[in-house]
Formats: sequence, C-alpha cells, structure tokens
Amino acid sequence: MATKQRLGINIDHVATLRNARGGAYPDPLRAALIAEAAGADGITAHLREDRRHIRDADIEALMEGLTVPLNFEIAATAEMHAIALRLKPHAVCIVPEKREERTTEGGLEVLADQDRLADFILPLSEARCRVSLFVAADERQLEACARVGAEVVELHTGAYCDFHAKGNAKAASDELERITRCAVFADGLGLEVHAGHGLTFNNVAPIAALPQVAELNIGHFLVGEAVFMGFAHAILEMRRLMQSARV
Ligand code: PXP
Repeated sequence: MATKQRLGINIDHVATLRNARGGAYPDPLRAALIAEAAGADGITAHLREDRRHIRDADIEALMEGLTVPLNFEIAATAEMHAIALRLKPHAVCIVPEKREERTTEGGLEVLADQDRLADFILPLSEARCRVSLFVAADERQLEACARVGAEVVELHTGAYCDFHAKGNAKAASDELERITRCAVFADGLGLEVHAGHGLTFNNVAPIAALPQVAELNIGHFLVGEAVFMGFAHAILEMRRLMQSARV
C-alpha cells in the first residue's frame, strides 16, 4: 500500500467565482494558502486555453506563493508547453480539453497520439517536471502512458461519481471495478497512480481505499462545500474520510 495518500486541492472554481464578477475576489492564491494550512499536500490549477477560470497571473502567483507543490494542469498544446517549460512546476498533468465542454469530460487519448505526446513529455521530464496523464481506466491507454514516458497516471473517476450520484449502483460498481483493476495494472507498469474528478464526501471512500492510489485531486465539491462549512473544514473532513477508508 502506498503509505499516506496525498490530497491535492484543485482551486479552479475559486477563480470561476472571482471571474463571475470580473474583480479580484475571491483570490485563488488565498484559497490555496488556506488549503495548504489545512494540510493539503499539493495544489492543482488548470490553465485552460480560454482562461475561463485560472489565468496566467494566477499560475505565476501560485508558483511564487505556495510552499506545497503545484500540479499544473494543461492541454497538450504548444502554448501550454511553453508556459510549463518556463515556469517548471513540480508536476504537469496533461488533460484533454474541448472548448465547449463544461469540465474535463473524458480521459486523454494517449494510444492514438503516442508520438506527439512522447515529444511533448520529454522536454518536461528533462526540466524535472513530473508528468502525469489524465486517462480513463483502460489498460491499453495505460500501456501507452508508460510507452510515452509518463511517470504518473491520473485515473478519471468522473463516470464512477456520476453513476453513484444517479443511484445507479450496478454501473457505479462496474466502473469502480474497472478503476480498481487499472490501478493495479498501472502500478504493475511502474506508473504512480493518482485519481480524481467528481469526488465528494459520499463517494470518496472506495477510491481512497485503493492501495495503489497515491494521490487524490479534488476541487469542485470542496469549493462548493466551503460555502456551507468553510474551505479548511471541508478539506479536513475529506482527509478524515480518506484516512478512515485506508485502515
Ligand atoms: N483531476 C483532474 C485531472 C481534473 O481535470 C479535475 C477537474 O479539473 C480534477 C482532478 C478535480 O475534479 P473535481 O473538480 O470534480 O473535484
């Protein structure tokens, strides 16, 4: 079992709230510092091509102000590659991005894009960024992740969470079985395994319990829950649930 499971906090939606009014409040860096003080092991921020939430200046501020590692989420575009190589964050998580989607809907297509991704990843690895690929739980995609030189894979938990929320227990359990199998498979390929997307207090336990999963990245639910119980308390409660799932 990976010893302590890390919790990365995604602060994109603090920026969504800020941008709703076009001002400077609430500040994503301030939220990230609260998360850090509440024991977050890392901060994740996604600089989308359309800058709908996080902006370039936010990433610069996070790089400057954080003491925990930044996991910089990007699409595999030339623009984002240049930014990542300039800033050299601790980790770079490559995600698929469609302009019209509300959130990152599916996993990255690694298998059909291996040469391009290998060329994208190599300079990042040489710059000592830990490169992670956000993929669906699919063995063929995971094999491709290892081939293109990723150190880490993040398994997409969105489908599991959606089925769980809709009360479709059979589909949620099938998806959980796929994630479980793929966590073991990826670990066997020598990849570090992370997981995330759509996780809440209600659905986190079975994912947190997977021994191979070294890190969870959670954002939207915790930013929402901050309205009711405060950001720090929401993070502490998530950590408690993760820990109790692993004993
Ligand atoms: N991991 C990755 C790679 C993501 O793209 C996201 C969403 O931006 C998350 C984790 C966090 O998902 P959520 O905001 O639903 O918790």
